[in-house]
Amino acid sequence: MWFKKIIAIIFLIYGTIGLVLPSDPSIIIVGSGPAGIAAATKLLKNNFTKIKILEAENRIGGRINSIKFGDAYVDLGAQFCHGQEGNIVYSMVKDFDILRPSTHKFQMIRSNGEKVDEETANKIMNFAELLLEASEEDPLPECENAKSVGECLDIRSKVLEDSSKNDKQKEIFSEAHPWAKSYISALDGTLDLYDLDYNTTYKTCGGDLGMNWNGHGYKTILEIMMQKYPNPDHQLPIDNKIFLEQTVANISNWQNDNRVTVTTTDGTKYEADHVIFTPSVGVLKANHEELFTPALPADKISAIKNTGFGAILKVIVHFNQRWYENNPTWAFFWTAKDVDELEEKNLEWLLDMEGVVQAENNPNVLVFWYSGSHVPLIETLSEATIKEAHEYLINKFLAPHYNVTMPDKYIRTTWFSNPNFRGTYSYESVKGHSGGQYNLQEKLGSPLMNEDGKLTLLFAGEATHPHYFSTVHGAIESGYREADRLIEVYTK
Ligand SMILES: Cc1cc2nc3c(=O)[nH]c(=O)nc-3n(C[C@H](O)[C@H](O)[C@H](O)COP(=O)(O)OP(=O)(O)OC[C@H]3O[C@@H](n4cnc5c(N)ncnc54)[C@H](O)[C@@H]3O)c2cc1C
Ligand SMILES: *[C@@H]1O[C@H](CO)[C@@H](O)[C@H](O)[C@H]1NC(C)=O
Ligand SMILES: *[C@@H]1O[C@H](CO)[C@@H](O)[C@H](O)[C@H]1NC(C)=O
Ligand SMILES: *[C@@H]1O[C@H](CO)[C@@H](O)[C@H](O)[C@H]1NC(C)=O
Ligand SMILES: *[C@@H]1O[C@H](CO)[C@@H](O)[C@H](O)[C@H]1NC(C)=O
Repeated sequence: MWFKKIIAIIFLIYGTIGLVLPSDPSIIIVGSGPAGIAAATKLLKNNFTKIKILEAENRIGGRINSIKFGDAYVDLGAQFCHGQEGNIVYSMVKDFDILRPSTHKFQMIRSNGEKVDEETANKIMNFAELLLEASEEDPLPECENAKSVGECLDIRSKVLEDSSKNDKQKEIFSEAHPWAKSYISALDGTLDLYDLDYNTTYKTCGGDLGMNWNGHGYKTILEIMMQKYPNPDHQLPIDNKIFLEQTVANISNWQNDNRVTVTTTDGTKYEADHVIFTPSVGVLKANHEELFTPALPADKISAIKNTGFGAILKVIVHFNQRWYENNPTWAFFWTAKDVDELEEKNLEWLLDMEGVVQAENNPNVLVFWYSGSHVPLIETLSEATIKEAHEYLINKFLAPHYNVTMPDKYIRTTWFSNPNFRGTYSYESVKGHSGGQYNLQEKLGSPLMNEDGKLTLLFAGEATHPHYFSTVHGAIESGYREADRLIEVYTK
């Protein structure tokens, strides 16, 4: 390799006297989710032009997927802007009148048709919210020794039940337990709440935690980054740099050569000075062995294995005719008797339904949210089963209160089974932290060099963000971080 070093030195000398130098290096970005689009747009704005984005799907956006359904866009993936202060999404969009404040206030309905009274409902909400707000710095006293959020939830549930003023309230509190489990699982995307570490490095941005896009879809943030919105005349020259349906199968020569080789499943070969890899940690868990030649270093592999990655699911339905009030938000509780009925009907997975909300600015569309251990199963059920089960839910919980009609269209998401995602977002795993393994996000995000010390393989994506993992704002910051890393190499 001596000749490569000499060439590198010649380039360095040329560079310092301002002649050629690979000042416009070739860069391949794997993935066109928010991290990939963030990296590409930042590089383009800094006059890097030799960029190629290879995307496995037939669309850009990754875990942002807004599609037209009913009267507006609905989000199959990311839906809410979580917080305002320190949130890069919020700061990019705040000057355009798009985001709307969160409106959710759950109406809790029992499977026997009763509505939960206000006082009991408030106590349940406080119990769930308190659990969400608790952190390592400020743990709930009862949960000091809890390892997982699941353990803490069980302890707190017991406290709640013991505080009930009568038998009926106690019954409702116990029915709220599985609901609270799925409510909290949804926020962290875990299939197993007992694997969600109670000790977390996640940071919540201040302000409204659930701002919505008012029917424009989370895709708007991609358009803002690409400068297609608000004025398409100012758009960055990115469209011809995106190659769809190019599934990267193999990234080789990242260590032993000056150029990295990227091969896609259709046999196309690309070469570049640098590769920024952005697919999910779910994709890495499944494929890292085949994806990288030579193999990734041991500490990177261990971070991949020990990072938690689960899934949530949405069933989005359309009604020909609307029969509910504006922006309803329902939580459904199952009486003990009806839990037995669910088991008989093979519908236990309905216990994983966290809530039903109206899609924003989309009056005839409701979104049913699911989270917890049954999500992988729900993805495999037939369309007929999904339809029957939702008709059953609507009849059981809503028919006593409304003149219901049944949906005419259904969408069910499949993030867990899609090989380009294999789940929804990363979380901090109890099992993964065993043996004192922390700061896995930083290990996932650390770049790799070839033998000459050139940064050949860089990593971005939500799971690489030290405290905003699992979010779009985290993904975008990680993309900017890796673009900046290269910009610094070529401009200093
Ligand atoms: C259902 C759901 C709800 C969510 N809700 C919210 C929310 O409300 N708010 C929020 O902030 N976040 C939310 N998130 C999380 C957020 O969407 C993600 O954190 C973020 O999109 C991750 O971006 P990324 O660029 O890191 O990865 P991705 O968006 O996954 O982008 C990676 C890209 O790589 C592509 N790819 C994968 N493998 C290959 C390959 N071999 N070759 C080429 N390309 C490949 C993928 O197709 C994908 O396009 C949600 C996610 C889901 C799924
Ligand atoms: C990019 O190039 C343009 C035109 O040559 C120049 O005006 C601008 O300053 C450059 N931007 C950066 C960040 O180098
Ligand atoms: C909590 O996590 C931090 C790292 O983020 C670690 O240093 C600390 O030991 C952990 N605390 C417990 C009680 O596990
Ligand atoms: C990846 O490419 C390298 C170099 O072309 C090759 O040696 C290796 O076998 C390939 N690996 C896979 C899994 O295709
Ligand atoms: C349902 O329809 C009947 C008959 O039209 C009407 O009397 C009743 O008020 C309606 N109920 C609700 C909850 O809208």
